[in-house]
Amino acid sequence: MTTLLEFKDVDVHYGPIQALKKVSLDVKEGEIATMIGSNGAGKSTLLMSIFGQPRISSGQIIYRGEDISQKSAHYVASNGLAQSPEGRRIFPGMSVEENLLMGTIPIGMEHCDEDMQRMFELFPRLKERRNQRASTMSGGEQQMLAIARALMSRPKLLLLDEPSLGLAPIIVKQIFKILEDVASTGMTIFLVEQNANHALKLADRGYVMVNGEIRLTGTGEELLVNPEVREAYLGGH
Ligand SMILES: Nc1ncnc2c1ncn2[C@@H]1O[C@H](COP(=O)(O)OP(=O)(O)O)[C@@H](O)[C@H]1O
Ligand SMILES: [Mg+2]
Repeated sequence: MTTLLEFKDVDVHYGPIQALKKVSLDVKEGEIATMIGSNGAGKSTLLMSIFGQPRISSGQIIYRGEDISQKSAHYVASNGLAQSPEGRRIFPGMSVEENLLMGTIPIGMEHCDEDMQRMFELFPRLKERRNQRASTMSGGEQQMLAIARALMSRPKLLLLDEPSLGLAPIIVKQIFKILEDVASTGMTIFLVEQNANHALKLADRGYVMVNGEIRLTGTGEELLVNPEVREAYLGGH
């Protein structure tokens, strides 16, 4: 399988705080890869560094053979990387359709109508709510919108930052089912999550991050039965 994205010995600092320590990982075309870790582990920093926010202090981020670590966020977004950020960050005063329209910014509006129809097939709930203000929707619906908005830029790699955050268990299940559907369209996904159980069940491969370092790696199944993972992230069950 072709490697789409690779981190090579990446360090990130926030002033005196080192948030990522020699992080190396890769995401291969067509797979679902995940990174699990507790609050503060460095998951969001890792995803945001792909867009240069924050800039890495050493190492390389290679995307389709090119070091993108010094490129602009716009360059990265218009070359096939899209993120559904932590906390959704949808535009609350805009309708569902307007939010989806914003997702086309990296690539332009050429495929907008066609892609919006595709999103409405994938997310029927968004179709029902297409003219509704985003702020009036439930957390689960807002998460769907954040994912759909990311997909509007026709990414080659979809990055997801804690899509389960703050959602009731039944809604989390629905979101993960949708991610399975998205993956079955051939989309490559890199998911960072505190919800180890759902993430590792969904993913082909996973990494475990502790205090900015990769502690463990393996297939989703291997990590699910790993004693250290069970103890730290799955309540010891
Ligand atoms: N803008 C920032 N300025 C200073 N420290 C930050 C900033 N963002 C994150 N951090 C610190 O970096 C570490 C990793 O945070 P983060 O990447 O948000 O972790 P996670 O997403 O896994 O919860 C934490 O110690 C956090 O306090
Ligand atoms: Mg985070």
